[in-house]
Amino acid sequence: MSFNPLKEKGIAMDKQIKTWDEINSKPYDKNEIDPYTKTRIILMNGIEVESTMFLHQFARNCKDPDIKRKLATGRRMEQQQQKVINWLSPANESNIEMTIGYEQVAVDLTAWLAQNEPDKNVKQALDFALLEDFDHLYRYANLMDMDKGIKAEKLVGEYTEIMPGRPTMAEHRHPMDSIRKPYDKDTADIITKLNVLTIIAGEQQTMNFYMNIGNTYDTMLGRALYAEIGQIEEQHVSHYESLMDPTTTWMENLLLHEYNECYLYYSFYQHETDPRMKKIWEQHLMMEIEHLKIADKLMQDYEGKKAEDLLPKEFPKLLKFQSNKEYVRKVLEEQVQLTADLDQYKDVGDLDKDHRFHKFQEAVNKDSAPSTDVINKRIEKEGEDYRFTSEGKHPVSDLVSRKKVNEDVGRK
Ligand SMILES: [Fe+2]
Ligand SMILES: [Fe+2]
Ligand SMILES: [Fe+2]
Ligand SMILES: [Fe+2]
Repeated sequence: MSFNPLKEKGIAMDKQIKTWDEINSKPYDKNEIDPYTKTRIILMNGIEVESTMFLHQFARNCKDPDIKRKLATGRRMEQQQQKVINWLSPANESNIEMTIGYEQVAVDLTAWLAQNEPDKNVKQALDFALLEDFDHLYRYANLMDMDKGIKAEKLVGEYTEIMPGRPTMAEHRHPMDSIRKPYDKDTADIITKLNVLTIIAGEQQTMNFYMNIGNTYDTMLGRALYAEIGQIEEQHVSHYESLMDPTTTWMENLLLHEYNECYLYYSFYQHETDPRMKKIWEQHLMMEIEHLKIADKLMQDYEGKKAEDLLPKEFPKLLKFQSNKEYVRKVLEEQVQLTADLDQYKDVGDLDKDHRFHKFQEAVNKDSAPSTDVINKRIEKEGEDYRFTSEGKHPVSDLVSRKKVNEDVGRK
C-alpha cells in the first residue's frame, strides 16, 4: 500500500490546538500493555522531544522573526503531541521498569534499522552500538531483579533475550573515537536519512532520561549504574549524530524531521494492536502531514527547493518493532570484540598497547565499574546472574558462564 503524505490532507494548524484535558492522557495498564506498544510510545515520545528541541535550536540560529513565529507555532503542537504520548505512562510504573522499556527500544529498534539499512557505514554503526544497548538491558535487569524482585523477561514479553552484550565496562572509549563518517545527502537513500534521524532521537531520549532520573534510584549501586550507562548514551548520541550530512540546511532538516514523523506515525498506525493507541497514531499522522506541508512551503520560499524533489513518491518500507533474537546473536558472535579508533572499527586486540582506549579505560574503570559490580553482587546473592535466554546458551564462549564475570571481553 503506497502512501505519500505530500498528497494527503492533514489537519489545519488552528484545528490542532488541544484542551488541557485532551493532552492529559489516561494512562495505560502496565500489566496489560503489549511490550511493543510500549516501545512505540517510548520511541514516539523521543521523536517529539527531538522535534521540539530541533525547532528551538533552529529558532536560536535564525534571524528572521517571521520564520521564528512559524517555528514557534509548530513547536507548540509538537509539545502537545509529546504530552499526549508521555502522559500515557502510569504513576505505578517505576523508573527502573521504564528503563527496561527504553533498552528494549534500543535493542529491537537498532536491530530492525540495521537489517533494513542500505548504507554499509550506517549499518555498521547500528550493529556496533546494538551490542552495547543489549548489554545495558542485562545490567538493569539484574539490578531490578535483585532490588525489586521483578523479572525483566515479563516486561519485555519474552520478545527480547537478556544476557551480556559487549560488556558495558568495555564500552568506555575516549570521546575522540566516537565520531563517524557522515553519509552524503545528495546520494544517500531516503531510508538512510530517516533511520539516522530516528536512532538519534531514540538515543538522545535515553540519554536525557538517565540524566534526569538516574539520581532517583534508591541505592548507591543503582545510582552508579545509571551514571555509568548514561555516559554511554552520551557516546551513542555523538556516534549517531556524526552520521548525518552536516551540510544539510536547516530547512531541509526541518522537512526531514516532519517527513520522518509522518513515516513513523504511519508505520505505527499500520502495526498497532491497541485500538486506543492506533487512534492517537492516526491523529498525530494527520497533524504531521500539515507540518510537512508548512516545512515544504518554508523551504520553497526561503531556499527555492521543493519537497517533491527531495522526497520519494511513497514511503519506504515501514518501520516495525519485532523480535530480533537470531540477528542479535549473530552480531554478538561476530562483533563483540570490536572497538573504535577514530572513525574505524577495530578488534580491541589490534589496538596499540598505548592507545588512548586503554588509558581511558584505566581512568574510568580504575576501581571496577558499577555495571560489573551489579552482576558480581547478584552472583554473590543467588549463585548466578539473571538472564533470559530462549534460544540456547550464550553465542560467545567467554560469556557463557553465569557464575563468573569475564572482565576481559571487549577490553583485552
Ligand atoms: Fe510531532
Ligand atoms: Fe542503552
Ligand atoms: Fe544507547
Ligand atoms: Fe511535526
